[in-house]
Amino acid sequence: MCGIVGYIGDKEAFPILIKGLKRLEYRGYDSAGVALLNGNTVLYKRKGKVSDLEEHIGSQEVSGKIGMGHTRWATHGEPNDVNAHPHKSFNDKFIVIHNGIIENYARLKEKLIGRGYEFDSETDTEVLANLIEYIYLKGDVTAELAVRLALSKVFGAYGLVVMCKDEPDKLIAARKGSPLVIGVGKGEYFLASDATPIVEYTKSVIYLNDGDVAVIKKNELKLKTIDNEILTPEIQELSLDIGEIDKMGYEHFMLKEIYEQPKAIADTFRGRINSDCTNIHLGGLHAVWPDLENARRIIIIACGTSWHAGLVGEYLFEEFARIPVEVEYGSEFRYRKPVIYKDDIVIAISQSGETADTLAAIKLAKEAGATVLGICNVVGSSIPRETDAGVYTHAGPEIGVASTKAFTAQVTVLTMMALKLARKKYQISEDQFNHMVKELTLIPEKIEKALELNDHIKAIAELYKDCTNALYLGRGFLFPVALEGALKLKEISYIHAEGYPAAEMKHGPIALIDKEMPVFIVATKDSSYEKIVSNIQEVKARNGIVIAVVTQGDDTIKHMADHVIEVPETPEHLAPLLTVIPLQQLSYHIAVMRGCNVDQPRNLAKSVTVE
Ligand code: AGP
Ligand code: GLU
Repeated sequence: MCGIVGYIGDKEAFPILIKGLKRLEYRGYDSAGVALLNGNTVLYKRKGKVSDLEEHIGSQEVSGKIGMGHTRWATHGEPNDVNAHPHKSFNDKFIVIHNGIIENYARLKEKLIGRGYEFDSETDTEVLANLIEYIYLKGDVTAELAVRLALSKVFGAYGLVVMCKDEPDKLIAARKGSPLVIGVGKGEYFLASDATPIVEYTKSVIYLNDGDVAVIKKNELKLKTIDNEILTPEIQELSLDIGEIDKMGYEHFMLKEIYEQPKAIADTFRGRINSDCTNIHLGGLHAVWPDLENARRIIIIACGTSWHAGLVGEYLFEEFARIPVEVEYGSEFRYRKPVIYKDDIVIAISQSGETADTLAAIKLAKEAGATVLGICNVVGSSIPRETDAGVYTHAGPEIGVASTKAFTAQVTVLTMMALKLARKKYQISEDQFNHMVKELTLIPEKIEKALELNDHIKAIAELYKDCTNALYLGRGFLFPVALEGALKLKEISYIHAEGYPAAEMKHGPIALIDKEMPVFIVATKDSSYEKIVSNIQEVKARNGIVIAVVTQGDDTIKHMADHVIEVPETPEHLAPLLTVIPLQQLSYHIAVMRGCNVDQPRNLAKSVTVE
């Protein structure tokens, strides 16, 4: 949700800002803007993509060695030129970029209007810019103090960068709820919402914590709290590689990430499964195994695709470890009054590690005394820092807004956790454990095989690309895959799609079946195979179109379905890892054929850092 980038040093800031914004564009693409100080204030902003901003600036020279840039995901005020960031304060003293929401902006705005302030935009951010300026001018204080005082008056979430025209030697940054990373160079500093714009300049970074304020000059960094307590910056080494954030010849990041799944899964279990597949080692959970073994129940909290991975987790933990599991949306959990016991284990799943609703739910669970674990992809992000323990997925940066490799990596971690816990609790035999672990290690090569079906899937996509509705069905472990398949189609090709447990179809969705709507049925050989075969018959009996994902060599469904997509055989517990692949490919091809922006679908953002 919104990308922030900043630079201070001896180099020209503009190219660094533009490049950084392009790397961050997956976080928001409603508008883009830059501001630089070079004796004067240079400010350009434009509705649309970073490329629209570049076009707008054209050949004009943009010079300055201190500056900031922003890509917006609008919360307050429609995406247009005026609402785009950076925002200037009324008397032109301050320039602000902001990620998040200032919840009490309306009241503050009213007060400022009462004191003669006028506003150009509808954003909450401009209110903050004016509040800072008001305090600065009225109190005759430094820019830094004005920022800290202003922040003590606002509610909500922010990742913030401020420049002051009267103090053109510094950037002031602050964080509460929205991520900010500082890159430490030689005589220069970089600032960004995540490390991707920074990695090519330096690998030394400082992650800001909630409540931190950083005052950054080209040769000096001061870190403090809003209340002026001095903090010691903790410099960390980035493990991110620049190659990981390039398309590497693929047409889209999503396609690259679909194809990266064998590696992402292998990287996720590498070093965690021993060579003879008799042990799983999850170092990050070492201290909490006793809590896990004694857990009364597990509550999984997540949003979107990560929530679907959580559903697979529910089936895995209940089947293998025999612990009751509830899977909750972060946004629902935090706003009702959930019963949380001290001996509950809460597992938060998140690719970005920044999803605001998931983070807030974690805080609630911690307050209630539960042990909170994280399964996250982005190292150093907020959720892993907020949780008691956890496991990183090593899927590498996921840039496409539609999550693909993060999902399969999350399911891989959940499988390892469930198996390890089951073994510790003697719920499965050693043989069963070793067999399942071995099967898990075979998944990457089976995904390679599934990926070979690309042309076949493309041909199916061609047939159904113009449909307006689609239904996805699955049972047991494959029900979450149906939900995930539907979400993928919805978000990147804007086709209405619903995922349902196949047996639920007869309680409503069956009324939708006609000759137009494709029904994607995930029906590999498992314990409910016969049941889903009956569901396929039910669809065909009503002249529905069935596209079935089946186990290689399945002869039964081949004669019933309009099309089959055959994936290699695997135990049903691991089938989500294989069956989701063709559904990802299908959505990808349909979206491309419909001319949709696959990596940056409309209205969406990669990290949802607002409620
Ligand atoms: C997935 O394709 C979506 N773009 C979205 O549902 C996503 O999974 C969700 O916003 C959760 O994000 P997280 O995993 O980073 O917390
Ligand atoms: N609330 C601010 C706005 O709507 C910032 C949104 C963002 O995070 O991009 O402009």
